[in-house]
Amino acid sequence: MTAQPLRLAVLLSGRGSNLDSILRACAAGTLPARVVQVISNRPGAGGLTLAAAAGVPVAVVDHRQFADRAGFERALDAQLAAVPCDLVVLAGFMRVLTADFVARHRGRLINIHPSLLPEFPGLDTHARALAAGVAEHGASVHFVTAAVDGGPLVAQIRVPVRADDTPDTLAARVLAAEHRLYPTVLGWYARGRLTLAGEQVQLDGLPLAAPVPFAAAGERDD
Ligand code: GAR
Repeated sequence: MTAQPLRLAVLLSGRGSNLDSILRACAAGTLPARVVQVISNRPGAGGLTLAAAAGVPVAVVDHRQFADRAGFERALDAQLAAVPCDLVVLAGFMRVLTADFVARHRGRLINIHPSLLPEFPGLDTHARALAAGVAEHGASVHFVTAAVDGGPLVAQIRVPVRADDTPDTLAARVLAAEHRLYPTVLGWYARGRLTLAGEQVQLDGLPLAAPVPFAAAGERDD
């Protein structure tokens, strides 16, 4: 049990529905954490409006203003350093981070990805899942390492794929599942239950042999 709420910096690029689920869990007290700032690489991101409405400080680090990735990440690091945090939470942040940046934040950088990794890393996961004809799809939370969408997995939530699904209907089902998964996993971290030791995820002091499975019907684990 941590005495102080965990300080989260949330990085996003778009709408911010995962941020919203995190803010709601913080407000409800189910996630003993506080979002200390939200940083977007896109000035028009809906997540910025959402954060500002919740009274969370926001910042834009626009990648288009920098000649290269290293310059962008130096600015990102400077903005992160300006508001001390314990964990950097990627929530729909659509820029690939370099090995150097990731190494600087190792074990304190976590991401949610809309597929059952290692299936469908990268973009357009829902359309690709439908094209592949899979029966189940879902979302994964993982610590971020230099391997894009390949860092050590913490937990996964599964949803069924229906015969009449379109990429949009499937995305909506996965997104609702993400909103359950991410605040719960962040809660484990906030309570000191979740760590990364080398490449190994540990939950409650024990190495995780496989990502913690969440049933589509909704599982409470906090
Ligand atoms: C979410 O589905 C998230 O998993 C995905 O972007 C969406 C953001 O939605 N992230 C990635 O694809 C990262 N590779 P939101 O802005 O409503 O939270």
